[in-house]
Amino acid sequence: MTNPPVQLAVIGCGNFARSQHLPNLRHLPEARLAAVCDTHAPTAQSAAQTFAAGYATTELRDILNDDNIEAAVVAVRDDLQADIATALLQSGKHVYVEKPGATRDADFQKLIQARDQSDRLAVVGMQKRFSPAYRAVKAAFEHSGAPRNIFSRMADDAWRWAKGYPPGALIRHDACHLFDLLRLFTGSEVKTLHCLDSRPDDDAILIGFENGATATLLHSGHASMDFPKERFEAITDRGGVIMDDFVEVRVLGHPQLPARQTFSLIDPRSGDPIPDVEGLDDFLRLRRQAWQDWTEKGGIPKVIPNFLRDQGWRESLREFCAAIRNGNPHPPHASLEDARAASRIATLAEESRTRLGR
Ligand SMILES: NC(=O)c1ccc[n+]([C@@H]2O[C@H](COP(=O)([O-])OP(=O)(O)OC[C@H]3O[C@@H](n4cnc5c(N)ncnc54)[C@H](O)[C@@H]3O)[C@@H](O)[C@H]2O)c1
Repeated sequence: MTNPPVQLAVIGCGNFARSQHLPNLRHLPEARLAAVCDTHAPTAQSAAQTFAAGYATTELRDILNDDNIEAAVVAVRDDLQADIATALLQSGKHVYVEKPGATRDADFQKLIQARDQSDRLAVVGMQKRFSPAYRAVKAAFEHSGAPRNIFSRMADDAWRWAKGYPPGALIRHDACHLFDLLRLFTGSEVKTLHCLDSRPDDDAILIGFENGATATLLHSGHASMDFPKERFEAITDRGGVIMDDFVEVRVLGHPQLPARQTFSLIDPRSGDPIPDVEGLDDFLRLRRQAWQDWTEKGGIPKVIPNFLRDQGWRESLREFCAAIRNGNPHPPHASLEDARAASRIATLAEESRTRLGR
């Protein structure tokens, strides 16, 4: 017998929820979109209509008091997440809260307490763990040993989309993904960290781990849309692995493993792979096109290439629903403790950050 779908609400129906969670839920038989909640009434209404939600509300308490709703995805701005997620746990809902999960350590503490006092699941949307590309990277490490020396680049056109965030906020808002992956892959905690920046949100970070591994991060919000966004390189005992933009993974020095794997881009609305795009070169062609649309035509291009890369969003939600149904208290998501650890690394970076440029 198949399990009944999890009755789920989405809180915060802004840009990200509309680009990923809401369309993805349509393709997940494991969930039913029982309600959407957004304080901006037209946004709540249009999300309910477009994504066939049971109902729309502007009041969180409607969700808290709705006994039919078992779980909620919280996709509001970073500083609003913890209070909403805490209230949901206290009202007996399972919670999938977007990264970073909280912006202050004390709020993580409150969240952990609320989870511990309930028998509910709480996970944080560090969903890159579920992407096919990073899963291939992890599989390579399982074969070749843990990484010794890592380089990672996350370079984005955040100046376009992060206008509501204060300068310097990206290290918590965005690099938290990287900090989570570094802990996951090294299996170790940060021992030392140095951060230099040439201007706000243009950081160079050097990290040493308790187990002796090292990582160098280039983290910038000042790139263009056609600049390749994300690269992860790791040297293992011998050889290593290179991941490019979730579309390509190469394993070097281990002939037993596939030398090059490519991963499809996915259109979250249709659920279909994007035809004629395979690997990094094709993806960069798409990014260049988006950049040209942006600079020549003005306005946001119809398709933002970042949201086409399979970063594990749908799989992460699927596993959240599965964990609710099979009662798994430790699914492979980032736990609140993992998110808190990632957030503490962001704090170390903020504290050590030395401005070199203007
Ligand atoms: N995991 C990822 O890869 C990823 C990617 C992008 C964004 N995000 C996360 O998603 C979150 C939302 O980002 P966004 O770009 O969609 O922001 P956004 O500002 O576009 O959307 C937020 C929405 O929340 C609504 N809102 C505000 N207060 C509310 C409240 N109290 N109750 C209900 N709704 C409320 C707003 O009206 C808005 O519609 C951020 O925290 C971000 O970190 C995650």
